[in-house]
Amino acid sequence: MGRKSIYIDFFSQEDLIKAGCFNLKMAVSVTKKALVDNQQGKVLFPDKIVQIFDKETQSRINCLPATLLNEKICGMKWVSVFPQNPVKFGKQNLTAVILLSEIETGFPIAVMDGTLCSNMRVGAVGAVAAEYLAKEDSETIGFIGAGEQARMHLLAMKSVRPALKICKVASKFEAEEEKFIYDMSKVIPDMEFKKCSTNLADAIIDSDIIVTATSAQAPLLKAEWIKEGVFYSHIGGWEDEYAVAKKASKIVCDEWNAVKHRTQTLSRMYRDKELSDTDIYADLHELVMNKKPGRENDKEFIYFNAVGLSYIDISIAYEMYKTVSGKSYGVKLQMQDDMIFNKDDLLKHIKI
Ligand SMILES: NC(=O)c1ccc[n+]([C@@H]2O[C@H](COP(=O)([O-])OP(=O)(O)OC[C@H]3O[C@@H](n4cnc5c(N)ncnc54)[C@H](O)[C@@H]3O)[C@@H](O)[C@H]2O)c1
Repeated sequence: MGRKSIYIDFFSQEDLIKAGCFNLKMAVSVTKKALVDNQQGKVLFPDKIVQIFDKETQSRINCLPATLLNEKICGMKWVSVFPQNPVKFGKQNLTAVILLSEIETGFPIAVMDGTLCSNMRVGAVGAVAAEYLAKEDSETIGFIGAGEQARMHLLAMKSVRPALKICKVASKFEAEEEKFIYDMSKVIPDMEFKKCSTNLADAIIDSDIIVTATSAQAPLLKAEWIKEGVFYSHIGGWEDEYAVAKKASKIVCDEWNAVKHRTQTLSRMYRDKELSDTDIYADLHELVMNKKPGRENDKEFIYFNAVGLSYIDISIAYEMYKTVSGKSYGVKLQMQDDMIFNKDDLLKHIKI
């Protein structure tokens, strides 16, 4: 009988990027397929496990499992959100790790960076929504928040709305706006960037697509700043006054049932009885599966809120795994050389 070894591949964020996984078109198409697969019963999607360490800042670590039945892959995203990190430690807010197992033997196959995948998923879900809900000729995008999600959202939106040519950004600190513009103008050199010097209204007024991606828990976005025909992607927690959703012609969620018991503005409105189930126009899969029309005219102001569906993260992560594995990237780690009681030197080390 041969040894019963188990190996796991480890892929860093740099491995994934060098292998070509930082591909938003891939993430958008995987997101659409995942939404359909879930509706067709090809996904196991248990509840996430949430551990919140600070109610005020919402510092938390979540465990999000999902299984892709056709692909025979079970995965988990382990994700930390520590909103104080940028100001307190000069470090990122969100950090994630992905674990993938195959479900023939149940053995783990890979541990990989999940921050890239998680941020790409947020962007890709927003981009799928924009494909159905943003005006085709949207030219100006305005951001409140200039952090990691805002950056990824800009790339994702540009991939589905290539006519975008002006990007306005407002944040809590001017230096952050400057860094956002410095970083993003290298990636999208033909875009005109405008720093709003912490004036949030400036980023929103006259924009065709608006995005709030902040770590604030406050009603920053005002309804009166929003013009007709706008598509709004809400990413953070409580970021807009209730009048924003009340003004919307349509409210669409990645999945309303997942959104309604959380801490976003829509969830707060639901809890405060300012919004009910019938106010929600659709879940994203209904647009992708042509069950409901998306934007129907240039006047609609459409509000989109995604809370995150882990089977999409696992779908993107598995696509990344297929891209990166079998090449010269990563490290193969031996988790087990042989089964516990088959080891030759066990007697030297065992204590009873
Ligand atoms: N919906 C989802 O699926 C999803 C997924 C991941 C993260 N998030 C959320 O997205 C948000 C942003 O995450 P991130 O990784 O980009 O964080 P980040 O720390 O990188 O960026 C946060 C940004 O918010 C800005 N901000 C904070 N308070 C502000 C205020 N009062 N006025 C204006 N700007 C303010 C900061 O200056 C910063 O630019 C977080 O709330 C996070 O929990 C949502």
